[in-house]
Formats: sequence, C-alpha cells, structure tokens
Amino acid sequence: MSQPATQLSAERLVHAPSAGDEWWRRSVIYQVYPRSFRDTTGDGMGDLPGITRELHHIASLGVDAVWLSPFCRSPQKDAGYDVSDYCDVDPMFGTLDDFDDLVAEARRHDLKIIVDLVPNHCSDAHPLFQAALAAAPGSPERELFHFRDGRGPDGNEPPNNWQSHFGGPAWTRTTDDDGAPGQWYLHLFDSSQPDFNWDSDAVRAEFERILRFWLDRGAGGFRVDVAHALIKEPGLPDWGGRPDGRSTEGFPFSDAPMFGRAAVHDVFRSWRQLVEEYDGDRILCGEANAHPVETMADWVRSDEMHQTFNFDYLGAAWGAASFRGVVERSLAAFDAVGAPTTWVLSNHDITRHSTRFGLGMTGRVNEGGKISDLVVDEDLGLRRARAASLFTLALPGGVYLYQGEELGLPDFLDLPDEFRQDPTFFRTRGERVGRDGCRVPLPWVAGAPGLGFSTLPGSSEHDDAAPTSNAWLPQPRHWDRYARDVQAGDPDSTLELYRRALAARAERGLGLGDLAWLETRPDGTTDVAAYRNGRTVVVLNSGDEPADLPAGSILLESTPGAIDADGRLVPDAAAWLDVEH
Ligand code: GLC
Repeated sequence: MSQPATQLSAERLVHAPSAGDEWWRRSVIYQVYPRSFRDTTGDGMGDLPGITRELHHIASLGVDAVWLSPFCRSPQKDAGYDVSDYCDVDPMFGTLDDFDDLVAEARRHDLKIIVDLVPNHCSDAHPLFQAALAAAPGSPERELFHFRDGRGPDGNEPPNNWQSHFGGPAWTRTTDDDGAPGQWYLHLFDSSQPDFNWDSDAVRAEFERILRFWLDRGAGGFRVDVAHALIKEPGLPDWGGRPDGRSTEGFPFSDAPMFGRAAVHDVFRSWRQLVEEYDGDRILCGEANAHPVETMADWVRSDEMHQTFNFDYLGAAWGAASFRGVVERSLAAFDAVGAPTTWVLSNHDITRHSTRFGLGMTGRVNEGGKISDLVVDEDLGLRRARAASLFTLALPGGVYLYQGEELGLPDFLDLPDEFRQDPTFFRTRGERVGRDGCRVPLPWVAGAPGLGFSTLPGSSEHDDAAPTSNAWLPQPRHWDRYARDVQAGDPDSTLELYRRALAARAERGLGLGDLAWLETRPDGTTDVAAYRNGRTVVVLNSGDEPADLPAGSILLESTPGAIDADGRLVPDAAAWLDVEH
C-alpha cells in the first residue's frame, strides 16, 4: 500500500516571496565551534589559524557567513561563554592578528565572519566583576551587576527563588574582606558567570564600545547570546510555579521575571542603529529562547535584530506533521513582522539531529538530559537527518548549519564521564550529562591520529607511528566513517548531499522564495509533507510505506535508493523535484 498521491493542483500558499533581497534574508550561516574545528598547534584545542587554514572547506559548501562560538579571553568555565576580556582573543585560540588573518581570508572567499557576543553575563574573572567584589555594597562598581542582601536570618537565604539554567540556585554568596559572609550575586548560568545589570548606563556604554571594536576589525555582525534575558523585572521578584522557582509548564516562559521583558527590545533597537552606521550590511542574530514562536518574532521587528534562531524548529520531533506544523507557524509569525524565518537543526547546546532522530523518542532532547541509556539506531538517525536536512535546505529564509552536520555526525553519547567539561554535568552532579557529546572535535582524515583534527608536534597527520589524539574531548573510534576526506568526492556521502543541496538552493533562489503546501490528505494527518518553493517541490516521507511523488524530474534524493523502482519515495527519506509551474 502506498500513501495517497501528492496533488500539485491542491496547493495552499502560506508564504509569499521575500519583499527584500538583503543577504541575511536568505543566508546560509555555518557555525564553527572553535575548540573543535581544527588544531594547528598540537595542544588538542582548535584555534583561529585552524579555521583560517580550512576555511576553503566551508566556502566550498556554498555558505554566506561563518559564526564563531566565543574565542575571547576566558577562563573557559563554560567553554568561552564566560568572557574575561571582550576585546582580546584567548591565547588558546591565538591572537588578534590571527582574527584579522581570518577576516582577510574570509573576504577572499566572500564569507562574512559573525562574532558571538555574550552580553548577559561575563566571567567572574572579568576586571569589572573583580572590582565589584572588592567594592562595598551599594557602590557604583556593584551597580554593574545584581548584588543583593540575602533573605532570612543573617541573610543566609538567596535573595529570590530563581534557579540557574545549569542547575542549583541562581545566586552565590560572596565573602567580605574580613571573612564574614557578604552579599549575594545573580548568575542565571554558572556561578562563574555573573549577570550584568542592563539597567546601568555604564554597562550599555561598555557593550557599545565592544560592538564597535569588532565591527571596526571587520566583523560581519553578531550572534547575541541569551538575548532574551538581559533585562530583569525590577525588584527581582520570586518566580511562581514551583518551589524551586521553575514554572510548571516548562522553559522558557513569557511570565518569567528574567525573560523577554519589554525593555530588552530597547537595547537591540539601539544596537541596530549602531550596526547600520557601518557599511556591508552587518547583522544581529539573537539567541532569543522565547516561546511561543510569535514571541520570538518580537526580536526581529523591523528596527530590531535581523534574525533570531528558530528554537521551535530546533526542538521539533522527527516527522512530517511536526515539521510542517512548525514551518507553518514560524512563517506566519515572522512574516507578520517582515523578517526572514531561520531554520536550524543542530547547534553546540543540543544533541545533534542525527542522534535525536535515531532515538526511539520524540520531543525536545536538550542539554544532554539522560539519553545515554537509550538505544540509538545510528543508521536510521543518519537517514532521517539527511532527509530532515534536505527538507530544511529548500525552505525560504535563513539557514544555520552546525559544524559536522554536513558530515552527518552523531553525538558521542558514550563519552566517559571523566572527560566531561560542561558545567551542567557538575552542577547537577551528573544527573544531566551536559552538552559535551555534540562538541567533539571534527574528523578530518580517516585513520590519522586524532582523525586529523590535531597537528601533533613532530608528526605528520598520516603518520601511523604518531601518538593518537590529544584532543580536548576524545572522538569515538568508529568516526573514521564520517571523516571529511572519506566523504569528499563520494556522490553518496552526506557532505556531497549538502554541497549539491546548497548549490541548488542558491541557483534556484529558494532562500527568497515562496512556500505552498501540497495537500497530501485533506485532514493533514499524513506522514508525508510536501511543499513547493518556486519550481522546486520537496517531499518528506516519515511514514512506514512508500509515498507517491508528484510529476516532475528528480533533482535530489536524501539517500541513495530513496526513490524505489516504482518511482515512489521510501520511508525516512526526502526528495527535491523540478516541476513546471
Ligand atoms: C547560550 C550558549 C550556551 C551557553 C549559555 C550561557 O545558551 O549557547 O552555550 O552555555 O548561553 O552563556
């Protein structure tokens, strides 16, 4: 039995072609996680020269920009999202000259470099926080952060019930010079990440200086970390819901006194004006983890950011109905404010999509909850991941790719605990394993020590006698099969599938295109999702039976054999077709 035929005649337009043609309305942006991209010094840690050296690989994918996760000076308690100097490169990654070289090389490839800006909090080693600790309660130095007296007898209780996103209370008590317990400071993340007080003009001025510093050095824009949390409700009230301060319905919430406050948008309006002073169409992309998607669209109103990550899409369970629902709601929400929707399947905070879709579970698998005990079907996950990526790459709007997804990499679920570094693991005493599994160094060369990630001193990458990897996180043994050199030139590989899809996306102008659903069944309950963007039709089959395809010539199929001998699309597969329209 096959699924009902996809009817080209019965289509329903839900998104008109983009009104503007700025690059960020259709961009493909590749996220580099510098620690894990390419190590040129042999210390086991990726670095900026490694990115510069291998930039041609990223360029050959056909992307527009590279977003670099944090590389500024940092004690690395949260992998660089704890910044101690916003205007310098951490020596582990190189120097400011290395950054300049990277920007210059990027220009040669017509790529923009997007810097990750972390404005919600800094490192406790930042000179401003150190000065605040040394200053008295009520001092201007402490005004830059959220210092409060504790509650209860002797101020022993935290000032409110807020919880750290990484587990445990969101407050840590300081110790005064005389050794007596002092005030508490707020940290929505690790205790080494004190939150800035964005009601302070001095904080705003400092970040304008930082923005200009990187724009002057040629940054193409910023990815703005935790953009939903800068402004806190005055008085820092308790958050109802549960005794631990969490809302009963999940995270995050519009009723939360630390997320999505109206005044946060003033900050980004002023930044939009600032970046527009510069030439070259520089952009702001917000990590605004807000729900529902209509709320997320607030960050990209015409005078605010250019893009925001689509967390609803990132959290969508595998399947036609699920993807279709999020796509439709997202396009409606972002169209309403005249902004492009972005599509993202993986990043450095979430289990990679080839693993998520290979687990026998649905819904959001985030932050490394206890999933290592679950059985993962790696081949099924990869097949579904390739289908999901193909479904995604023809959508109108912007796309974000996370390094390694073009290789089909899974998470390293069995990473031994002794290697774990994510503060989530430590703050929850291992209850949540954290995000290290999706941050493992890339495999470049099959059979090479460290899979060619590290250039070990005194050894060549192909020298079998060289010691094996000293990478900051170990790579699974079987990752040879995912290595870039094995995939390059193999027409059946995930890498070549991404290349072909991205080239076709550009040629066909899909990023600025329209979207019409092809009705596969009137009640919409089918396991087949099909849409048309211009002359391109995309069909995804997440059901158990082969599905009929509409008339048209096949452009791409997600895996070899995705189309059976009868011309039908097999389960867990996707295809692109060229149709007359
Ligand atoms: C963002 C980053 C995440 C980091 C957190 C705190 O969510 O993506 O990696 O841990 O902010 O900065």
